[in-house]
Formats: sequence, structure tokens, C-alpha cells
Amino acid sequence: MSEHKNYKLETVAVPDEWMDRAYIDKALYERGYKQSVEDPDTFWGKEAKRLDWIKPYTRVKNTTFEYPDVSIKWFEDGTLNVSANCVDRHLGQRGDHTAIIWEPDDPNTPARHITYRELYENVCRFANVLKAEGVKKGDRVTIYLPMIPEAAYAMLACARIGAVHSIVFGGFSPDSLAGRIEDCKSGFVITADEGLRGGRKIPLKANTDTAIDKSGHVQKVLVVRHTGGNVPWTEGRDVWLDEAMAKVDAECPPEEMNAEDPLFILYTSGSTGKPKGVLHTTGGYLVFAAMTHQYVFDYHEGDIYWCTADVGWVTGHSYIVYGPLANGATTLMFEGVPNYPDASRFWQVVDKHKVNIFYTAPTAIRALMGAGDQYVTGASRKSLRLLGTVGEPINPEAWEWYYHVVGETRCPIVDTWWQTETGGILITPLPGATTLKPGSATLPFFGVQPALVDADGKTLEGEASGNLVILDAWPGMMRTVYGDHQRFVETYFSAYKGKYFTGDGCRRDADGYYWITGRVDDVINVSGHRMGTAEVESALVSHPKVSEAAVVGYPHDIKGQGIYCYVTLMSGEEGEDALKKELREWVRNEIGPIASPDHIQFAPGLPKTRSGKIMRRILRKIAEDEYGNLGDTSTLADPGVVSDLVENRQNRR
Ligand code: WTA
Repeated sequence: MSEHKNYKLETVAVPDEWMDRAYIDKALYERGYKQSVEDPDTFWGKEAKRLDWIKPYTRVKNTTFEYPDVSIKWFEDGTLNVSANCVDRHLGQRGDHTAIIWEPDDPNTPARHITYRELYENVCRFANVLKAEGVKKGDRVTIYLPMIPEAAYAMLACARIGAVHSIVFGGFSPDSLAGRIEDCKSGFVITADEGLRGGRKIPLKANTDTAIDKSGHVQKVLVVRHTGGNVPWTEGRDVWLDEAMAKVDAECPPEEMNAEDPLFILYTSGSTGKPKGVLHTTGGYLVFAAMTHQYVFDYHEGDIYWCTADVGWVTGHSYIVYGPLANGATTLMFEGVPNYPDASRFWQVVDKHKVNIFYTAPTAIRALMGAGDQYVTGASRKSLRLLGTVGEPINPEAWEWYYHVVGETRCPIVDTWWQTETGGILITPLPGATTLKPGSATLPFFGVQPALVDADGKTLEGEASGNLVILDAWPGMMRTVYGDHQRFVETYFSAYKGKYFTGDGCRRDADGYYWITGRVDDVINVSGHRMGTAEVESALVSHPKVSEAAVVGYPHDIKGQGIYCYVTLMSGEEGEDALKKELREWVRNEIGPIASPDHIQFAPGLPKTRSGKIMRRILRKIAEDEYGNLGDTSTLADPGVVSDLVENRQNRR
């Protein structure tokens, strides 16, 4: 895969059709951006009117990035309810419009169309079930569901009664689920009998039981009947959702929430330790999710919008559920995977539901590009008007393929850079305003002030490469790490005092365009999923035969990055292929299939400095098969280990 710097740079200027249709053209963007940074109170004070407030705010922005007194508050004296904004307020005008199209894993199972009125009834009943089972305002509710409409009902039902949801991706293991239940002391879990992906069943209820055995806390488990498969059952604790919903009232008044009351927690990997509970609040988050959804995707009334993410990730929170529903959109939820039954599935679904706006990850684009153009060109795709990507840098080749083959040069591509922590999109083209460059996330969204700093924290001007920081707050940003504000301050604001540090490296070109180059910390990005190398290491060393492990990323053609593990065994243990297989299984069981190692290399020793610190730079080079250029190895305690590592490297090209 070529690097940006080797690519023959091409730009796509905004044609008249895109501009005429779009909300934001270049002049509006420039004027709006200027106001958003010079006078944020006026700018955001006006923008936030897009929501229905119960009690209007008088104070817009009250934020400081000053270390160690970081504090973020937006619209702090206003009150509202997120579920009322995503559902109730649409009933008058578009009660009969489709809110959610559900496309099942199996194309022969009928799709479902849920209108706003049906969504309202389901959310109200679900909320009443939560109340009946003892959930109160402020309680944490863990959601461990597949991609079914009940996932959206569950989120909105929590929001309706002021409970804080914590969604755990259905691909995570019982151990990962247990850790997340324990961290936020969640007393309630919502799950399903089984999930279904690519024809394979996932035992969600059985996993939940295993997790609860480990974590305690949980009083009630609400179970969605989905596949109808047999499940273990604990009387008195487990409740079938369909039976409970039939018994409760179809109306549930929304709770009046302060703008700064918590809406959800979402765990994400960092460079050290266990995943952090990223906390988002009510008012600012929804303003930002709704606004970015409207302007970035240029969403207009009646558009059919499809984001292929899972609700277990932040993209699913902001751009399947909250942003689109706040805007009264029709949002498509897809249960399956891009290559089942075959690699034409995405485009079959696009044709079937006449999708206008399509948002996916570079890893999916690369995989489908590899499968061959015939899977794309066999479908009409005439409905498509705009394409988007998220989750990792998109290489220009994949961008060009997406643009030419999938979109037939008719559709702008919005390459959206953001993070779980940012709540919504921060750097992105706007389709009617921004000249596109393949591989660049382009320019900041309204109110977002990116900057580049060097390792010493010096701000770099003009064309430069450095670490990406953000200089001031935006409404959608995280407020804290759940239960550990100090960790929030240290993780994001201590490296460069007074600035939010993203953890990403970035280049800015002569036109001021941003090119994200990937993480600069010990986080790797595998198929658009964030993974802390420390988490994989701690899973490996928990195996009785492993004494030490070091994990690094390496470039992978489809996944973006692959997982490369160096493992030192306990003395007397043999490094055999069977043990590699066992360790791979072990990591899958500890974390989940997404953490499955691509390469395991048994290493008698790891390169360490005399003070005992592992020199990851060297391990990365070997994993990249770039061992010819290992740099300075003179500070190693035992330079001999390096030749053994090179000799036995697994990733030979
Ligand atoms: C990476 C996903 C390049 C980046 C929304 C970031 C990207 C991490 C892009 C956040 C993009 C996301 N171009 N890199 N368009 N979008 N990233 O928290 O490294 O799962 O820090 O949020 O993904 O991943 P997260």
C-alpha cells in the first residue's frame, strides 16, 4: 500500500450540483467557522436551538482546558430530554415516516420498517419496563445486544428515564463484559438470546451469565427474544423483554434532564491499563451529533441514511441512533457483515432500500475492493448521493476506488476524523464547501481548533507534521472518565498543558489540510477498532505458560493494522505451533475475536534498556519487516536478543 507522500496528489473540486444542494457552501463555512471560534457563545447559542429544550439555557459555554482544573460545561442551566428530542417531537410532522429500517443478517428474512410512532411506543414501553424492574435516574444500564432495533429502543428508553447506558460491543468476551459491568457498577444488563452475524450465532445470553458470575452487581437481566435459541435462565433475575413490554403502559413521560447530566458511558482502549469509561452528557452531545449529521452528510428530509457501524462503537451511538433520529431521519440498521452471503451485500442493501447516504470504514472498502468490481457493478447504486468513511486513515487507492467504482464520481466522499472522546466528527470535508483530496480528512468542523505540536509541545505553524491537539472545547466532547476525573485530566491534558491531546499523529499541508497518520501512543487500530497493546499483553501474560509479552501493530493490507505478539515462555516450555493456536484462542476468549493475534513470535528475550524498559521501536521495525534499519541499539542491555528476533521474524514479505 502506498504512502500519502508517494501518491500523485489529485483534488476533486466541488461541482455545482453538490454546492446547490448543500446547506453549507464555502463562503458560509468560512464565515461560520470564524464566528464559531471568535464568538462561540453566539454561534453555539444559535445552533443549540435545533433541539427542543424544556428550560432554555442562558449560559452557553463554560469550559477550561487549564491543567489540572479541566472542566467542560455547555448549556449548563438548560434542561431537555434526549429521547423526546429523538422521538416525541417528530410525531406531529412525521409520525408515519420510517425512523428505522432494519436489514437482517439473512437477506431472506424480511426487513422491518419502524415508524416514528412505533418507535415512540416501543421506547415508552421499554422505559416502563426498566422502571418496573427498578432502574432509577442516574443508574447505569449495560447493553450487550446485536444490531437489532431493540438496541436503539434500549438506548432511548434509558435516556427517557435518565438512566446512563453503557453499551458493550456484542463481539466482546464475557471477561471484557464483566470488567465493564464492574467498572461502572451496573445493576442491569440488557441482552438477547443470541446474536447473528454472517450466518453464525453468538451466545450473548450465555456470555452475559458468565460475565455476571465474575462481576457481581447485576440484579436484573432483560432478554430480547431474537433467534429463539435455547438459553440458560435464572428465575427471579432474568426477564423476557417481550413479555414484560406487553404488561406495561404505552406512555412514559420523559424525565427532565439537565444539559450536563450523563447520557452514556462508552469504554475505549487507551495506551495503558484497562479501558476507560468515556462519559458523554446530554445537551452538548446531542446538539453536536445532530448538527454534524446534518451538515457533514448533508442530510435532507426524506433521505435514506445508512451507517454500517455497530451500536457498540461510538459511530453507532452518534451516527446510527442519536444524530439521525434527532434530525427525524430514516436510519438503516444492518445486522450482518459486508461479505455475507457474498461481497455484493452492501450494494444489494443499497438498492433494496434506496440508500442515499452511505457511511462505512476503510477496512470494509479495502476488503470489498479486493473482492473485485463485479460485486459492485452488479448492483445499480443509483440512489447513492454521498459516501463517507470513518475509523482509520483511508489510503488514496481505496479512496479512489470508492469514489470511481462505488460512487461513479457522482458522490462526494466525506472522510471524517473523530474519536470516542470527541462525541462527533471534528475534521471533515463539507460536501458543498470543501475541495476533496483523497486520503485527507481535510478541514476542521465549526468550533474545532486543531493544532500540531512537536514532542516538546512547541506549536508548529504552516506545513508541518506533529501530534494533533485541539485548543478549545466543543459541545460534543467527553466530560470525564467515569469515576476517575484525574485519569481524564492526566490522559488528555497533561502531555501538552492547556490542550486536548488526541493521541494521533498528523500532517498539515500547504493548503492547511489535515492528514491523519495514525496513533502515536500504544494504541493500534485493527479494522477500525481501537485496541490497547497493553490489553493484549495482559491477556497473554495471564496464560500460565507465558512469562512476558510485547505487542505491536504492523501495516496490514485489509485491516489497516495487524496484531504482532512477541511472547517469552516460562522456562521449560516449548514454543510449538499448537501453543500459538492455544494463545490465539486464549486472547479471543479474554478480550474477543477482534483482538485475535495475527502473528505470534516466541522470543527467548525481549530487547530492553539497561533500566528494563522494552524498546518497542525495535519490535515495531521487526514486525514491519524493516529490520535493516533498527536505529540505535547500543543502549540495549543485551544486543544479542535482536539478532534472534530478526532471524525468527514472522512477517517476511
Ligand atoms: C482513528 C472512531 C484517520 C484515529 C470514530 C482516532 C481516523 C481513532 C479517522 C478513534 C479518519 C478515526 N482518519 N484516522 N477519518 N477516524 N480515526 O475512538 O486514530 O474508535 O484517534 O472512534 O481512530 O477511534 P474511536
